[in-house]
Amino acid sequence: MRDYKLGVIGDPIDHSLSPKIHNLFAKETEITIDYQPYHVLPENLDSFIKDFFINGGDGLNVTLPHKINCLRSARDLSPLVKLIGAANTLTYSRSSEEIVAESTDGEGLLGDLIDKFKLFSKNETNVLILGAGGAALSIIPSIEYASLGDIILDNRSQEKIQSLINRFDNDDKSNYGFPSKKISHRLYNIDNFDRDIDLVINATSAGFSGPFKWHRELNVNSKTAFYDLSYSSSEEKTPFLEWASQYSDNYYDGFGMLINQAALSFTLWTGSSPDTEITKADLFND
Ligand code: ATR
Repeated sequence: MRDYKLGVIGDPIDHSLSPKIHNLFAKETEITIDYQPYHVLPENLDSFIKDFFINGGDGLNVTLPHKINCLRSARDLSPLVKLIGAANTLTYSRSSEEIVAESTDGEGLLGDLIDKFKLFSKNETNVLILGAGGAALSIIPSIEYASLGDIILDNRSQEKIQSLINRFDNDDKSNYGFPSKKISHRLYNIDNFDRDIDLVINATSAGFSGPFKWHRELNVNSKTAFYDLSYSSSEEKTPFLEWASQYSDNYYDGFGMLINQAALSFTLWTGSSPDTEITKADLFND
């Protein structure tokens, strides 16, 4: 079996957990990889990606701030990437000799939601997404694909909500490249939604900047589940989950999504699906 030349590009890149995660995957699947973190400045992005793949690179993860501009270097954009306008995984296709761009964030989240909350399987699940930036955009198609319920959007700046809804509200009811299933677009501005919410996802970038606050009361109760796309390095709650815990004890941070989206990238590059049972202790306790 050949060695895979892989890496992650970002600016900054020092704190990326991807090298550690992929090396754990490699060990477990007995695949040999050389996975490096690369600090790439925006002005060097195009040339770096080109050189990496010309010099035998197999795959790159892409993190901030390059998730949108990396598309300039890819010839083949997946339907999902075309829709959300961003990617986190670049793969070199030896057959077409082209760089292929994919986004594994949404599917990575979905896998964790199903795993943690056993959602979406049979019951209608209404999902409220807080935030209307790139993170919200990248997860909406997967939620839309999986959910039997409605998707509700709220954001601190109200004007961004409608433009996000409009992005999905078109005549092309395609399935974004997911296996065949008709997606019916049911995205609501929170102002037009008065039923119970089953799951609240924090897709804001509020992160660890202080106690989490939301500008309005939400229609949640003790049965509502809460999920934070951010994660902490310990068992301590993120500020969002600290806030959520006043309503419900059914909440998780985004650590599982982090591992799942990485596993999906690993599979795109190597064809092998690694075990995703990595714990915080595996990554944070050296
Ligand atoms: P990302 O790519 O991480 O989504 P982004 O595109 O800059 O980053 O979007 C950040 C999102 O987090 C926005 O929805 C932002 O709200 P505004 O549109 O009102 O700026 C939201 N956000 C950031 N900090 C926040 C905070 N402290 N409270 C609530 N929302 C916040």
